[in-house]
Amino acid sequence: MTRVLIDTDAGVDDTLAIVYAASSPEIELEMVTTVSGNVPVREVTQNVLYLKEILKLGVPVHSGADVPRARKLVTAPEVHGEDGVGGFRNSNHVPPVSWETKDAAKKIVSAAIDHGPKLTIVSLGPMTNLADAVAIDAEAIRHVQRIIQMGGVFTGYGNTTEFTEFNIYVDPEAADFVLSNGIKVKFVPLDLTERLFFPRPILEDMVRKSRTKNPQLARLLKKALRYYINYHRRTEKIDGCFLHDPIAVAAAVNPRWFKFVDSLVSIETKGDYTSGMTIADFRKRQRSCNSEIAVAFDAKNFVRDFTRKVFGALLHQDVIKRDCITARSTTTFDITLN
Ligand code: RIB
Ligand code: CA
Repeated sequence: MTRVLIDTDAGVDDTLAIVYAASSPEIELEMVTTVSGNVPVREVTQNVLYLKEILKLGVPVHSGADVPRARKLVTAPEVHGEDGVGGFRNSNHVPPVSWETKDAAKKIVSAAIDHGPKLTIVSLGPMTNLADAVAIDAEAIRHVQRIIQMGGVFTGYGNTTEFTEFNIYVDPEAADFVLSNGIKVKFVPLDLTERLFFPRPILEDMVRKSRTKNPQLARLLKKALRYYINYHRRTEKIDGCFLHDPIAVAAAVNPRWFKFVDSLVSIETKGDYTSGMTIADFRKRQRSCNSEIAVAFDAKNFVRDFTRKVFGALLHQDVIKRDCITARSTTTFDITLN
């Protein structure tokens, strides 16, 4: 059993990741903290509180940073909807829950002090809360079991600017501050999460099947995924979507599904074109490694586990192999020796 604290900018894929974590007996969900990213933190917090209600989660929710450490907030309503769940809360007039805390960083530090080497932090959004927690007590954060960060792109193109991944792009100063304080981060990057694609027909079928398990959740996922998939159809020209955050949670559910390599990661915070870029040196030379990067994972076992737990439906391995793995090339360069 792994004790997990999730920091999230929920968001559609975050929502699925939280359901996956809450449905995994391998995980004891300690707390959920919220941060601005996909949408402002007030929307993120309402999404997590709504999930807490319909999943009957007994975990504390603490809201956190509403803006990045040193720059204006950039959100992604075009990807996740103004409310962060594809318009579900807004169109169903879900009443907002009154919520005023802004103590996520302090609560992350308390959890790190209380549970240290038994605590895994899974960060699914910009690293603003994490950086604030490091600023309060770096030593406490250094002693947690591991920090899994969905974020970064190291060998391919980005999903925000040409060379940046959203979570790091929104708050590169936070990512740089965490790494510069000797906190080892395990990155689950776009290079990996964009290799796995969920076709719309399969997801729609899964959501239909999940109605018996939890009709309220099925209604939320139907609306949220429809909006999120439409974004992917417009921009990625794929009839489906990537689910980045559930893959990051999977690294806590079953670390054996992943291969991480030691690396020295630098975060660009100044470039006109490259701010938010994550640069990895895998050569382990002069300076010590400050992070690990997931370079491979067992997609078949993950997809079967994820779909069974979240939707209560099984996906056959042949379908996964045939329909879910993208050949998304991360490099366009090749050489021929003949
Ligand atoms: O780049 C993808 C990441 O940014 C995901 O965590 C998504 O939810 C957004 O936060
Ligand atoms: Ca996220």
